[in-house]
Amino acid sequence: MEHNKSFIYVIFGASGDLAKRKLIPALYSLYVNNLLPNNFAIIGVSRTNYTDNEYRNKMREALGKFNETNNTAEIEAFTHKLFYKSLIYDNSKSYNQLALRMGILQREYNISTNTLYYLSTPPDLYGTIPQYLATAGLNDQTTGWKRIIIEKPFGYDLESALKLKDELLKDWKEEQLYRIDHYLGKETVQNLLVTRFSNGIFEPLWNNNFIHHVEVTSSESIGVEQRGGYYDNSGALRDMVQNHLLQVVALTAMEPPASLEPSSIRNEIYKVFQSLRPFSSDDVKTNTLRGQYTASTLKKEKALGYREEEGVNMQSTTETYAALKFYIDNWRWGGVPFYVRTGKRLPTRVTEVVIHFKPTPHFLFSNHANCSSCNQLVIRIQPDEGVLLKFGMKIPGSGFDVQNVNMDFHYSDLTNQRIPSAYERLIFDSIKGDTTLFARTEEIIAAWKFLSPVLDAWKNNPDIPLYGYPAGTWGPEKADDLIENKDMTWRYPCKNLSDDGIYCEL
Ligand code: BG6
Repeated sequence: MEHNKSFIYVIFGASGDLAKRKLIPALYSLYVNNLLPNNFAIIGVSRTNYTDNEYRNKMREALGKFNETNNTAEIEAFTHKLFYKSLIYDNSKSYNQLALRMGILQREYNISTNTLYYLSTPPDLYGTIPQYLATAGLNDQTTGWKRIIIEKPFGYDLESALKLKDELLKDWKEEQLYRIDHYLGKETVQNLLVTRFSNGIFEPLWNNNFIHHVEVTSSESIGVEQRGGYYDNSGALRDMVQNHLLQVVALTAMEPPASLEPSSIRNEIYKVFQSLRPFSSDDVKTNTLRGQYTASTLKKEKALGYREEEGVNMQSTTETYAALKFYIDNWRWGGVPFYVRTGKRLPTRVTEVVIHFKPTPHFLFSNHANCSSCNQLVIRIQPDEGVLLKFGMKIPGSGFDVQNVNMDFHYSDLTNQRIPSAYERLIFDSIKGDTTLFARTEEIIAAWKFLSPVLDAWKNNPDIPLYGYPAGTWGPEKADDLIENKDMTWRYPCKNLSDDGIYCEL
């Protein structure tokens, strides 16, 4: 197995938040679960000057904080695999020194030249670092593989994504590039494929004959926290929809792949991106909606408005909430609207896909004549991960009144099952060379193309309103109007999978 072979893992941006919170804890988990080979080394790289020991101390501290472990012996053993090299990102000498350091470690610890470079730096370095690595010969695969993992965002818009693509493909091959979308690393996102394709009962109904509409929600209760500077140049559409949520839509909508080969799965995903109906300028006005959170009082405490957050322009028009209605123009989905919404500072943190089935062709029962009892299949990505089916049942007693009841499965009911973190899974796959759960260039470009008319109109057309919504509420009330059927609204999910409603206990 390829992952049994030794390798060096180079993390650019090694003193940053992502490395501390996610990357090092994920590598540590793989290590303690015996998923890494005996011979490997991790080199942290960033501008700051640290010795190996100083860096190890920082990462020990991070592991204490972000990993549920206090096994000091294991932490000690792991941190001895950590090394550090300071580097000036646009200086070729620095890369030659890095090459020398790698050579020394390879000889000293009997490690092959297999190398993974993880770019966890500001995005404006995503073109620079690979170019300098190539100039120093660090992309050469004669004696071992060389791979680059690139964090999101891949570009800021269509034009910059195309430019970055060209820069990368000058010195690297597509198969060496692993574009990370941590949503694809989530166990529950992958389970979308299994729910659909391992059960005989769902797939026959999974089309426009039976499905009325599909809803994808990703709400967060937190605001922009310390990331105001980044977020103010991004906004909800770029931050969440262009990548994570369109990938979730693709897995929900794709055709069954011919096999589980990465290319087979990714081809089907890409076909969904190709079938997204482009937004016309009228669609942008009627089928998209943006909002920004305003100050409010939550649990008797003042919650800041977005424009008061650190790093945010006081006149900012960046959206912290986005909702879209769109279509996938293909045989399976013709005429079925997809509704996607995401926002910061909403009442609770929930990500889920809701399949709303069509009503029965004839309403036999008295209180059955609206869609409050239509069947829904809720696939909960987080938290209280699980699957919920809502169906109508007779209210006991005289007559034939119908009520909606739940059938639910919660991952927490599976005993002794540890759900690996998204980063753990993706880092492991990148070491194995499995590209299934990484986004391909064409997908990313297609996603930018799809959203370009919305981004342009939101930027340039002052007639498209930016609605305020008080922090802690479900976004602009106007978002309900996107769903045209007056008997239907968005589902208002609660923390617990089985509950919903605007006023549910959060
Ligand atoms: C990141 C976004 O990609 O995803 C953040 O930049 C967002 O703004 C985060 O908070 C959400 O991820 P998760 O895994 O907490 O749903």
